[in-house]
Amino acid sequence: MSEPVPGVWVLRTPRSAYVLSLGGEDVPLAAHWGAPVDDDAAVALAKVPFDAARGSWESHVDGREEYPSDTGMRFVEPALALRFRDGGRTVRWVFGAGEVDGADPGHLRLRYTELTRPLRLVLHYRVSAAHDVIERWAELQTDVPVEVLRADSAAWCPPPREGYRLGSLHGRWGADSRLERSALPDGVVRLGSRRTTTSPMHNPWIALDDGTATETTGEVWTAALAWSGTWRIDVQRLPAGRVVANVGAGHEEPVASLSGGTTYATPRSCGLWSDGGFGAASRAWHDYVRGHVLPHGDELRPVLYNSWEATGFLLDEANQMALAERAAALGCELFVMDDGWFGARVSDNAGLGDWLPNSTRFPNGLGPLIKRVGELGMRFGIWVEPEAVNPDSDLYRAHPDWVYASPGYPRHEMRNQLVLDLGRPDVAAWLHGWLDTLLTDNDIAFVKWDMNRPVTDPGPQRDLLWSSRHALNLYAILDRLRRDHPHVRFESCASGGGRVDLGILARTDQVWPSDNTDASDRLHIQEGFSQLYPARAMTAWVTDAPNFLTGNRLPLRYRFHVAMAGVLGIGGDLAHWSPEEQATAAELIARYKRIRPIVQHGALHRLRSPRESDAPALAYLSASGEEAAVFQLLDGHRYGEPAPPARLPFLPPGTWQDADTGTRYPAAFLAVHGLDAGLYRNHDSAVTHLRRVSRPA
Ligand code: GLA
Repeated sequence: MSEPVPGVWVLRTPRSAYVLSLGGEDVPLAAHWGAPVDDDAAVALAKVPFDAARGSWESHVDGREEYPSDTGMRFVEPALALRFRDGGRTVRWVFGAGEVDGADPGHLRLRYTELTRPLRLVLHYRVSAAHDVIERWAELQTDVPVEVLRADSAAWCPPPREGYRLGSLHGRWGADSRLERSALPDGVVRLGSRRTTTSPMHNPWIALDDGTATETTGEVWTAALAWSGTWRIDVQRLPAGRVVANVGAGHEEPVASLSGGTTYATPRSCGLWSDGGFGAASRAWHDYVRGHVLPHGDELRPVLYNSWEATGFLLDEANQMALAERAAALGCELFVMDDGWFGARVSDNAGLGDWLPNSTRFPNGLGPLIKRVGELGMRFGIWVEPEAVNPDSDLYRAHPDWVYASPGYPRHEMRNQLVLDLGRPDVAAWLHGWLDTLLTDNDIAFVKWDMNRPVTDPGPQRDLLWSSRHALNLYAILDRLRRDHPHVRFESCASGGGRVDLGILARTDQVWPSDNTDASDRLHIQEGFSQLYPARAMTAWVTDAPNFLTGNRLPLRYRFHVAMAGVLGIGGDLAHWSPEEQATAAELIARYKRIRPIVQHGALHRLRSPRESDAPALAYLSASGEEAAVFQLLDGHRYGEPAPPARLPFLPPGTWQDADTGTRYPAAFLAVHGLDAGLYRNHDSAVTHLRRVSRPA
């Protein structure tokens, strides 16, 4: 951080710089977001005049303003919009100070006061010497009541370039995190969720480039939101081609209603720039998520078994024990019992909310199963869906008023369930209470926290509720459970990838990216997921053939090879796996354990995209640079067509050896020719473990 001249601030990350300057009317302007610059260049950048061709219809600051409000000479989508009791909406922010925190020299606060009303605004910027992410958020302190119609975390302003392109993740149930890149049109492109949770429809992440970036080259400006409630990202392309992306919580107005004497802080938006293409941008995100977001990013996640696709709602003590025995024999380290263990939950019609073991299925409680799992050398994990309730449940019969509802209107069920109003203190206390008891009374090491429907009938408080209280109480409960049960790890799931974001990842250890476990579809889901989120957080199960969703029959090795690119899990019905299949599984799980540190902690290189190639390939390079795991697969491949070896130009120089066959290759050979995996039939696949055995003299 430096302030070379008053009113010009330079934020520096290891590989980028961000320059801010104070413009006319005290407006904070983005002067630069990109390559490192020295102070002289920063001062020059802060003096760049704005668009000489501007006519009388345009603003001086649109496209460069860091936090535009909705009044004054500006016409972009506002990042901040307020309405006072007297109906007034005008604000004019008067600059007070730019302060750097002595204890945290990367944290800059720009302090403002409102010209006529007792309100203060603080714009926060935080950078660190350890990663390239710039964290931004805003804080509004008011002494008078005010409705916050909009309060984004940040408006991100990449520099003027021709031909901006927008990368985003969209999807739906069973088709999560699909990557899309398309030319950014003039106007506003809005991504978001008004479904209470992050949602699989869009993920709060964007990547902008000038249309020429590739996986390995070009500048990329990318931003995300650390928030698990409703949200909105408005990407605007302004008349002169300038681009601004407003990133924030909440969807419709208002997002908060403040009484006098309160402070409203937005969640964080994180942004980063890279000039190494989409691949380098993703690796920078992964470093940040592992190092600064995940609670234990340096931990290796165990190979888990999950019972959902095997036993569905038909589980009991005997079949779970039988699955656990098989899972342990294959080498699984964590046994997770999914939905159906509690109350009258023998289908999705009843029992959700009654969190005591079903007495027919578990006559002696969970103890015997947990004990058996422990004897088998595995840890025990359990599925819960704490925020939802079946109307046919004792909980609902006792507390019909605990669910979201619009009084006087018919309510809507989805998957036969309603959502508990987690904004209510009594509901939040009950929810924390039973989970705390469950974790205190049982030796549970892992909780899969699911959430299988959005809120549809949120009652009179609609927007306030959707935007904050539910998510904030969810965070508070997770934080408290983590503090009181530090050995427990959590998985975030919402019918698959419906709650994947940097906010939930700060309090969970991994996420379930999709209910679709078809390995061929997963290639696409995982590629989208990997744009922002690291393999360390990506649970990936090997399930049965045919796949329950797609009907595809894919070879077992292929299913394994796709899942081994993340946190490997097994989700098949092991009771029906043949001895040969079990032997293959045991061999591949052992193999995964050897490459696990490379996959979970290494740097991802996407070599060929499944969107563009029928021979997708990717690789991880270990943090030390001494080992690599190379994944090559044929997907949709026609016999006899070329499947060229995957080239590995990122390997450090020296001689590399295939850890299984002993074959040696010079790094330069692997860079120019590539690693030939001998694949030729559709759904052939290979995972090659390479080690550097000598360095250049
Ligand atoms: C959701 C989850 C699944 C499974 C079921 C159980 O669909 O995404 O993994 O846990 O609920 O009902």
